[in-house]
Amino acid sequence: MSVWFNPAREIEALLRQAAEAVPTLGKGFNPELKPSDPRHADFQANGVLAAAKAAKANPRALATSLVEALRQQAGWDETLVQVEVAGPGFINFKLTPAALGAWLREYRDESKWRAGAARLMGGQKVIIDYPSPNTAKQMHVGHLRPIVIGEAVARLIAFCGADLIRDNHIGDWGTNFGILILAIRRAKFVLDPQSPEVLEDLERLYKEGSAATKADPALLEAARAELAKLQSGDPENLALWEQIVAVSNAACQRIYDQFGLKTDYILGESFYRDKVEQVYTELQQCGLAEESEGALVVWHDEEPRFSRQAETKLPFIVRKKDGSSNYASTDLATLLYRTQHFKATEIVYVTDGRQQDHFQQLFLTGKKWFQATQRTLPRLRHVWFGTILGSDGKAIKTKSGDPVRLQALIDEATQRAFESVTNKSPDLPEVERQHIAKTIGVAALRYADLSSNRTMDYSFSWEKLLSFEGNTAPYLLYANVRVRSIFRKLNLAVGQGETGASDPTTPTEIALARKLLAFTAALDQALEELRPHHLCTYLHELASAYGAFYAADNVIVDEPDVQARRLMLCARTSAIMETGLRLLGIEPLERM
Ligand code: ARG
Repeated sequence: MSVWFNPAREIEALLRQAAEAVPTLGKGFNPELKPSDPRHADFQANGVLAAAKAAKANPRALATSLVEALRQQAGWDETLVQVEVAGPGFINFKLTPAALGAWLREYRDESKWRAGAARLMGGQKVIIDYPSPNTAKQMHVGHLRPIVIGEAVARLIAFCGADLIRDNHIGDWGTNFGILILAIRRAKFVLDPQSPEVLEDLERLYKEGSAATKADPALLEAARAELAKLQSGDPENLALWEQIVAVSNAACQRIYDQFGLKTDYILGESFYRDKVEQVYTELQQCGLAEESEGALVVWHDEEPRFSRQAETKLPFIVRKKDGSSNYASTDLATLLYRTQHFKATEIVYVTDGRQQDHFQQLFLTGKKWFQATQRTLPRLRHVWFGTILGSDGKAIKTKSGDPVRLQALIDEATQRAFESVTNKSPDLPEVERQHIAKTIGVAALRYADLSSNRTMDYSFSWEKLLSFEGNTAPYLLYANVRVRSIFRKLNLAVGQGETGASDPTTPTEIALARKLLAFTAALDQALEELRPHHLCTYLHELASAYGAFYAADNVIVDEPDVQARRLMLCARTSAIMETGLRLLGIEPLERM
């Protein structure tokens, strides 16, 4: 029998099959298999309780029949998984040391884990839409979350076998371009793509333009005229717009590079400007959209709505009063394009939680539109996130009230990390300390963000995120460096020296081995909910299990088989730690 990559999934499947042979259970039985209190078992199935209640049967007797049927299943092996009925009718499953040892020997490295996880999303074509910033602005702290959450979710989906496309849906076709172009003209500003301040200049011009158009209706009219010229393809305005988008993209890319982010496409809103007409036509033809006060709108009756504002129902406006397209029209056209052109089976959108309303309306409209036009709707998921708070509990801002620039945040993180590395390891050459500081700085920013449940707000604290204690990037990076140092001491590469390893034996070895296997459950959960913090929590627990093992069991010992199996545990710990960190976007360090 081959060794199961993900025992919980296999046990669950076998339980479902076994249930078919038990009259009271049958097809459709849900085993409700969950991780269990590790003192008693690895997993427990609770499903019999509900089934017994529904059938007015004795739960323990029913659980006993299910266990008997399970033992008849081909592929059931009691020497690997022990099973027993417990409590009022739970079924407990415990992996034996032989099963743990077999898993550790079989699933040695990333390629094996990838192959094992590929069942989760193999054959799927997924588009992930991130970080999708608006153009002509410098990236600020608000862009940290779409970058790091988007990248982690993307890596997770790809790791689990999907064919993944990263599509950066930039906001490059908004009404702001009218104001910006007007302001550029009025200031006779010459846009120099090479200037490092060009984005700052554009931001300033936009602010000036925006104030001016608010104060003077004639200027507002002029801005509208510039926008109309741009939208109707005026060559001069188009050329200027193209330049603005290009400098903006280049500046964003400099930030992306520091986060190791490479998108496959930049198909921004402007890409869809000739594709919205079809949306209007079809939505009207299938009776979904109607004219209302000059705009084209779609009404939905479905509840609940997430709107934080009024109880009043708002329509989904798909074309504005003045006939121009908006965020909604573009997103509908994008949905169609991704379905038809990329043959997406799933689309994942990564944005701020304040856009929940938009996406709920988008998904509903998409569903009804595709149904009416007999298209297959891809699975649509909105991966939204909360706000980063300052120590005052409000969204973080600079003293002047502007958002903190992302580059400033990275620089400060790097600077602070450099100080702490210099404190910890003053003997390392300065270049190496700088390299380490850059890795730790960005990793710490990233990990602090990923380790909290994305739908919650979290408070930003330099002390916390750079700390070498607790659930932080420096702690995990350092834990891994320490595991690796054992191999260095023995003059071995990680993964060498484990030939002849016996099965885990001592309680701390067994506890560590079980934690290593739990990698599969962490992957499962993170993927299912698209919440990277499950992986962070897991890595932190793994580091603790390793710590307990290391404190209790000497690795370098005289008995060759004992040393081999402990080295095996060390090697797997380091490899899972590194794979997990990479999934989060963090490059592990050799030393620090
Ligand atoms: N540009 C938008 C923003 O900055 C995010 C776009 C997200 N993607 C989408 N298809 N709507 O808020």
